[in-house]
Amino acid sequence: MKTTSYKKSAELLDRAKKVLASGVSSEFRKYNHPHAIFYTHGKGSRIYDVDGNEYLDFTLSQGPLIVGHSHPHVLKSVNEYSEQGQIFAGQHIREIELAEKLNKLIPSAELMRFCLDGSEAVHTAFRVARAKTGKQKFLRFEGHYHGWLDNVCWGNSAPSVEALGSRENPEVFAWSQGLSSQSKDDSIVLPWNDLELVKLTLEKRHEEIAAIITEPVMCNSGCIPPKEGFLQGLRDLCNQYGIALIFDEVITGFRLSLGGAQKYFGITPDMSIFAKAMGSGYPISAIVGKREWMSLIEEAKVIHAGTMNSCNPTVAASLATIEVLEQEQPYERMFRLGKKLMEGLRLSAKEAGHDVLIQGMGPMFNISFTTQESINDFRETFNVDKAKLNQFIAAMHNKKVRVIGRGLWYISAVHTDEDIEHAIEKAKEVFNEM
Ligand SMILES: Cc1ncc(COP(=O)(O)O)c(C=O)c1O
Repeated sequence: MKTTSYKKSAELLDRAKKVLASGVSSEFRKYNHPHAIFYTHGKGSRIYDVDGNEYLDFTLSQGPLIVGHSHPHVLKSVNEYSEQGQIFAGQHIREIELAEKLNKLIPSAELMRFCLDGSEAVHTAFRVARAKTGKQKFLRFEGHYHGWLDNVCWGNSAPSVEALGSRENPEVFAWSQGLSSQSKDDSIVLPWNDLELVKLTLEKRHEEIAAIITEPVMCNSGCIPPKEGFLQGLRDLCNQYGIALIFDEVITGFRLSLGGAQKYFGITPDMSIFAKAMGSGYPISAIVGKREWMSLIEEAKVIHAGTMNSCNPTVAASLATIEVLEQEQPYERMFRLGKKLMEGLRLSAKEAGHDVLIQGMGPMFNISFTTQESINDFRETFNVDKAKLNQFIAAMHNKKVRVIGRGLWYISAVHTDEDIEHAIEKAKEVFNEM
């Protein structure tokens, strides 16, 4: 069988490394198979690299491409609107249209501001929460990812499960060197999905805590759904203690429903962050929230700014993406296709004698090699065979099916039944060969 060639990518990577740190522009892009790959173009559910390889893409560029690569309506809208100007250091009508749209679709979106990415929108939410409550810390959960700024780089990683120590008082590790040492004190970190622990912690420390931030589905480690009553429990505790409940919907937004996870689960946070799928790959995010919180920005008690915010192409991309999602209503299909793929992977693994756990909602899900029947928090993600996962991802890549290295799959509105069947067939081959 002809082996996949990555020769041109390897040459370009050597060239890139001379001028770009590790040849890439984001840490996560280093970890492709067999190394960072250079792509030429993407169309629909397919992406193409410089060596001429065509991949069926389930990475969707880490989530944004909910309507697939190069959706014609998005491109047309971006081009048309960019021709009228790029950015005005002033307001424009489509910005209001986008805000009105989010206001209609997202339960908590009474008032909002647009930013460029998830990380800075998270940062804005913390600032609002501190200003309103007069308290300093936020409570976050082990293994959740809220971007790469200093105070959220504590608690998202750990060298081992043993190193995490007790559940009640976890050890917290820095994800990077160079963080401000005070930034560690900004957060209190707990294991996720354990309402009793949150309750006990708040009883003792609620006077220090301005906000609780959570991914409503723990997409970044294992794609773990919230336990029955967990999100409602957080909502009740935040009400009880005057704490901001922040949903980080950077992944779940526009993916679980047009109104995000908050609409899907019927729990309304005080503030939430939307990014990724909101803009089809154009840099736009939103911090949205209830008026009583967001009015601090209105009153300029909290400063939020940014030269590039809500520039024409990003707003046009977001409006066009939402228009496609509204017209096509792909959610039922995305759930159905996701579940079909999850089922197919489970069955193929079982027939080949591999212990896998596949969990998630459908539009996004995760595969791990483990005998565990479920994974409920970050600590349980350590009891998996990472080497086997790497082998699986690499073999899938060689068969031209592209999956995120940590085992996460995203379904888009343009994946078809044939795409899903093709992926299952390739996975079957890989499981049998492993
Ligand atoms: C849940 C979550 N929050 C925040 C972020 C940070 O967003 P960005 O990379 O746009 O800064 C990410 C990025 O992957 C994310 O998955």
